[in-house]
Amino acid sequence: MDWKVGKARGGLKGELTVPPDKSISHRAVMFGAISGGKCRARNFLFGEDCVRTLEAFRAMGIEITREDDAITVHGKGLKGLTPPEGALYLGNSGTTMRIISGVLAGQDFTTVLTGDESLSRRPMRRIMEPLSMMGARIEPVEGADHAPLRITGTKAPLKPISYAMPMASAQVKSCVLAAGLYAAGRTSVTEPFQSRDHTERILEYFSADIRRKGLTTEISGPGELVPGDLEIPADISSAAFFIAGALIVKGSRLIIRNVGLNPTRIGVINVLKRMGGSIRILDLREGIEPAGDLEVRYSQLKATVVEEEEVPLLIDEIPIIAVASAMAEGTTVIKGVRELKVKETDRVRSIRENLSRMGIDAVEENGSLIIPGSSGRIRAAGLDSFGDHRIAMSMAIAALVSDGDCLIRDTACVATSYPGFLGDLEKVSI
Ligand code: S3P
Repeated sequence: MDWKVGKARGGLKGELTVPPDKSISHRAVMFGAISGGKCRARNFLFGEDCVRTLEAFRAMGIEITREDDAITVHGKGLKGLTPPEGALYLGNSGTTMRIISGVLAGQDFTTVLTGDESLSRRPMRRIMEPLSMMGARIEPVEGADHAPLRITGTKAPLKPISYAMPMASAQVKSCVLAAGLYAAGRTSVTEPFQSRDHTERILEYFSADIRRKGLTTEISGPGELVPGDLEIPADISSAAFFIAGALIVKGSRLIIRNVGLNPTRIGVINVLKRMGGSIRILDLREGIEPAGDLEVRYSQLKATVVEEEEVPLLIDEIPIIAVASAMAEGTTVIKGVRELKVKETDRVRSIRENLSRMGIDAVEENGSLIIPGSSGRIRAAGLDSFGDHRIAMSMAIAALVSDGDCLIRDTACVATSYPGFLGDLEKVSI
């Protein structure tokens, strides 16, 4: 599937609610499934990635029912999963593969995890290392450090460890914390910079014995998770395309409803505000996961420097921040972009390639992505998603400020996180 997106005729206007948060939806299923009872999660994301998580737990004997936008996960306790009939196919979802491995390391049956071509290229050493230290048997079926992975279960509890993560990754942190539930004693994990904390929040809410001290999180196992109901806000990573779009398309004023505003996810708002973007939080509702409505108006942006420690707080938003930077005055520098190369695609490459077709020469230097502002002159071009949902949507927004029609190739991948994206874009493009 290809999209034709042309220069916007007017601004982005009106109101919009973007899809539910992907990270929280995954965790509702995973931790609901191993809790000791029923967990109802309202506003669940039925995108491809989260459906993979849901199907994986169904294949392990967990009943999950659906009622409109809500799911109810009937948890069976930490050890209540049953062996699946075949390999668990996890599609494109790195989050599922990395976090579920922590849960499966604690089971007493063997599982094989497979994924699509992109997922089968992504690094898994980062979870194999801490899980092996905990005494789990996890190995790549075909050698190297990639999926398919075989996790050989054992009846013995895992060994608690103190693990210093080499990179800031919420997926790795969550994997170790999930495995920590199955360890006899206190496991601790320390990250170099703060990454998203949805796992810590849901485990606290489910009464796990978990404590946070700065960049270290400790969890004591084995314990029982006591489930509660969840209200999943809209995904700030999906909202980011419309936030940036409204900032760069002249004449825009857009309201985006019920956006998740967890402090470990709002890096994109902080950076775009620092660039001079008019983004107002209309009302902030506290809760297990805070949320609020946003009002965004067209603004002339200016360049900024994004520091390495900010990167985990906006890791999925770098493609769209790059597009906004291309419309800013001056040259934007995003430091410490190494992790961006091991996402659904090498996003440094796919951003640079697409921007260069539009006449913007972004470069990579000493681990930083450097994006020159274009003074508003962006050329229409043929663009590629490279099979990456966030690249496809970022380029659709870039097309709105180009000087003609852009063709964006291979956009079926947006179904992983935002199936109705193009319809929403048409709805608010006046
Ligand atoms: C996610 C964490 C991030 C992010 C991914 C979702 C999560 O990955 O890129 O889309 O839900 O934990 P890393 O933590 O590996 O950077």
